[in-house]
Amino acid sequence: MESKLLYEGKAKRVFATDNPDEVLISYKDSATAFDGQKKGTIVGKGKVNNLMSAAMFGYLEQKGIPTHFVRLVSQTEMIVKHVQIIPFEVVVRNVVAGSLSKRLGIPEGVVLDEPVREIYYKDDELHDPLVNDDHIRLLGKADQRTVDTLREMATKINSLMKPFMAARGLTLVDFKLEFGLFKGEIILADEISPDTCRFWDSQTNEKLDKDRFRRDLGGVEEAYEEVLRRISGGVNK
Ligand code: TMP
Repeated sequence: MESKLLYEGKAKRVFATDNPDEVLISYKDSATAFDGQKKGTIVGKGKVNNLMSAAMFGYLEQKGIPTHFVRLVSQTEMIVKHVQIIPFEVVVRNVVAGSLSKRLGIPEGVVLDEPVREIYYKDDELHDPLVNDDHIRLLGKADQRTVDTLREMATKINSLMKPFMAARGLTLVDFKLEFGLFKGEIILADEISPDTCRFWDSQTNEKLDKDRFRRDLGGVEEAYEEVLRRISGGVNK
């Protein structure tokens, strides 16, 4: 069956299904970093990101977080609710890394007493700028209540994901979330994967995420597989 391609991004394709309320996401092995300047392939990434996202959405649903996940279709494909994406990304940080380290001059690895939350405006041409509540009001793409809800949901998701990862020997350093509107409700969308989170091995602090690709650390495929192995197996906290 030929399905209509609705959207093609850097890491996934979205297809229409027979049900207007659902779309199919197909995860790709292609990877980009630094706003698309660096390009490559991570063999098996599509599978890891699809299966890991399914596992995380299942866990979060069970804990009361509404998500777009409906069901897996194959190793690299899932059916999700057809949401309207809210054009703001929420980043939650537990440990200093990446752009926070650069922006504020704090070394990577400093553990934060309280999670730091940031909102970025999803706009490729503007390179997804960091925005504050006044900027969001000025942009007029979401009202204050929606933004407050995104922050609250992201905080709750962090408090659920941190112990889940810790039980699997992973420090949840930071992650990025996207949300969508479905029949008037704000639900978690996009993906939860080594592309969108930083995971460090709890014992060794070895990086087990996309930073291995971004920073040419080698062992990229192995790190993705290792995270999936730890998420899929093991304890069910
Ligand atoms: P950052 O330190 O580069 O701002 O990234 C923070 C977190 O957000 C990190 O876990 C990676 C994730 N992220 C994305 O998922 N997509 C992006 O485009 C960027 C810049 C970061």
